[in-house]
Amino acid sequence: MKVFPSLLSCDFSNIAKEIVEVERAGADALHLDVMDGHFVPNLTFGPPVIAKIKKATSLPLDCHLMVENPDQYVPELAKIGVDRITIHVEACSHLQRSLQLIRSHGIKAGVSINPATPYESIEWVLDQLDLVLSMTVNPGFGGQSLIPAALDKTERLIQWLDKKGHKGKILVQIDGGVNEKTAPLARKIGVDIVVAGNAVFGNPDYKKAIQELR
Ligand code: DX5
Ligand code: ZN
Repeated sequence: MKVFPSLLSCDFSNIAKEIVEVERAGADALHLDVMDGHFVPNLTFGPPVIAKIKKATSLPLDCHLMVENPDQYVPELAKIGVDRITIHVEACSHLQRSLQLIRSHGIKAGVSINPATPYESIEWVLDQLDLVLSMTVNPGFGGQSLIPAALDKTERLIQWLDKKGHKGKILVQIDGGVNEKTAPLARKIGVDIVVAGNAVFGNPDYKKAIQELR
């Protein structure tokens, strides 16, 4: 299982150092939580900060856009050279078009579903997808507890993708409340990637934290 630390929980007064340390500790990519204060009740950072992060690391950048109108950020993020852009099904009126826009820039496209969103909502865009991000908390904040029903749904989602012949082609990622107790459950159901904020940056030993989750 791959581990993507979420910078949301890092020490932002020392962000360059945090990035170097988490890269040295074996992170597979950096997960960047972009929040606009509208789609979620919190604000974080956007393209100008991501451009600086890009300069500080050789790790792939996994952008999780928790914003309304995500299309408007795609060209700028593409120019920066991010690896993947994940948008929320609940934030897109024209999801198929938004996913095509991401891919047209040569970037991997992901779609995220909130804990209460049925996975069938992505049924007709599966061909436009490289990743499904199943939220295991309601998006907006780090440090929340994993919602068990969201993990049960993820298990069904994985079986459903498998049945539809997308296993291995579309990766499944979970985000929220991943720690040393919940990561083994994710692994058991076949999750490909876990995002972890507090479980990595809240541990004094990032390497040990990442290894434990993996
Ligand atoms: C929440 C974000 C997560 C967050 C996870 O909306 O999408 O990426 O950083 O934090 P933890 O791992 O602490 O639950
Ligand atoms: Zn996230």
